[in-house]
Amino acid sequence: GEQACGETGDGRMLEPDELLYDLIRFFTPKVLAGQHVLVSAGPTFEAIDPVRGLTNLSSGKMGFAIARAAHEAGAQVTLVAGPVGLPTPRGVGRVNVKSALNMQKSLDHLAQAATVFVSAAAVADWRPAQMLDQKIKKDGSGEVPTLSFVENPDILAGIASSERARNGALYCVGFAAESHDLLAHAQAKRARKGVPLLVGNIGPDTFGQDDNALLLVDAHGTLELPRASKLVLARQLIAEIARRLQS
Ligand code: C5P
Repeated sequence: GEQACGETGDGRMLEPDELLYDLIRFFTPKVLAGQHVLVSAGPTFEAIDPVRGLTNLSSGKMGFAIARAAHEAGAQVTLVAGPVGLPTPRGVGRVNVKSALNMQKSLDHLAQAATVFVSAAAVADWRPAQMLDQKIKKDGSGEVPTLSFVENPDILAGIASSERARNGALYCVGFAAESHDLLAHAQAKRARKGVPLLVGNIGPDTFGQDDNALLLVDAHGTLELPRASKLVLARQLIAEIARRLQS
């Protein structure tokens, strides 16, 4: 890139935040060395017609923080992101997707080479039964269109029931965004999705925020990670995942 003297070439200083990131990564214990971590993040966008669609309030911040923390911990990391405007964490590979079906296709493929899958995306439960190829026009009659929906596949449950996940080659972590009764819902969701570790959080307290609080639920019990920035929580979650991989 361009250097201070005006010349262009090798030797240009990294941006200060990139240098800081590399220093942090250098000093972070490599508890995920040799692991290939796949992370899904953000909302999905389910098209109604070429100009409209359904989505949700997920910001993607938690998933992006997990991808960054996994990379700091020495993993090779791939992030599959729904439509969000967040910068890709340094050193992380990224695939952008839109709909739940796009996301499923990417994740199913990438999961074949991953050793850890963290499903932090807020996948739409339903999509419009048909995507119209022309914009639905308002004709002035006051008549409103009727939309019908079909259920989206459960991407996480599908990957968690795959051969590699069942024989221990792929460790799957799910998320649950709830509005109440977090523990009961997280335990039920862990069983329903068939994952060893389920991370609960309160949806309205996390969507779009820079901080969060997590409740980890596994076969042995629960662990509360108190309110902190999403990056701090992501690093704690990665340490917990690494501990479970080692044991
Ligand atoms: O069922 P619910 O949407 O609450 O489950 C949340 C967890 O399941 C998250 O880890 C989310 O990424 C995943 N999920 C999925 N496919 C869906 C719905 C949710 O992978 N269709």
